[in-house]
Amino acid sequence: MRILVLGSAAGGGFPQWNCSCPVCQLAWSGDARVKPRSQSSLAVSADGARWLLLNASPDLRQQIIASPDLHPRGARRHSPIAAVFVTNGDVDHLAGLLTLREQQDFVLFGSRATLDQVAATSLFGVLNKDLVQTRAAKLDETIDTGLGLTVTPFAVPGKVPLYLEDADLVIGAETESTVGLEISDGTRRFFYVPGCAEINERVERRLHGADVLFFDGTTFTDDEMVALGLSSKTAWRMGHVSMSGDKGSQARLAESGIARKIYIHINNTNPVLVEDSAERALVERAGWEVAYDGMEVVL
Ligand code: MLT
Ligand code: MN
Ligand code: ZN
Repeated sequence: MRILVLGSAAGGGFPQWNCSCPVCQLAWSGDARVKPRSQSSLAVSADGARWLLLNASPDLRQQIIASPDLHPRGARRHSPIAAVFVTNGDVDHLAGLLTLREQQDFVLFGSRATLDQVAATSLFGVLNKDLVQTRAAKLDETIDTGLGLTVTPFAVPGKVPLYLEDADLVIGAETESTVGLEISDGTRRFFYVPGCAEINERVERRLHGADVLFFDGTTFTDDEMVALGLSSKTAWRMGHVSMSGDKGSQARLAESGIARKIYIHINNTNPVLVEDSAERALVERAGWEVAYDGMEVVL
């Protein structure tokens, strides 16, 4: 299996268009200690020819251009992208579907809740229904993509997308709204969990012993955005678990027996993006890698 990191940043990318937080300022000034990053997405393939996208980010067009494996081959219209699996309805995970609109067949997988959201958004009607099949994946059921890869979605603590939040909002709900994915080629398996509000026993058990985990690296501290005066929301309130702290991913996955732990969906405020920062050194010492655009993992 080949896994390409198309994008490694959280919603907004890095730097974010309107942000002058300390980490974005380094990126704006071209500081060599930071690498700009596009919004998070993976491409995975068992045969090197047909690729499954895990989420379709708003930066997808640039990500395809930057990835020769995803360039069209042969005559007229063609794409190595055969399918897309979306983990929730967030803008940073769906907007790239609009890039895939030019008369191209592919299969779109997601939970019923997320596919209903796509169907309810009239703009996504630009995807030609005769060419784009949708297939709803049930929680905890393994789905054969037909690409030599199976995917098993499972609920993780999360919330509905920001634009659907209302008075009944529950943070940490384990529903079809936010899923993690287990991907297997029949021999090796890895997990993609770009959003997870809490690592409870169930999540820990599920991830235990994986070959590779790509996990929610949105913030370093829970109150990161609040402390910077950028937002009133903690990571938890946004449906994400911080890296640090008792309940953070470093502590909660310290004994998980996972061979490679890789942070993805990293927010532009997160100091781990600065390569010589104390926070970067801490996570690396704890056995974590920090994903970057163009990173490749072969399993
Ligand atoms: C998130 O991951 O929290 C979302 O991308 C937030 C958003 O939709 O801007
Ligand atoms: Mn996001
Ligand atoms: Zn920023």
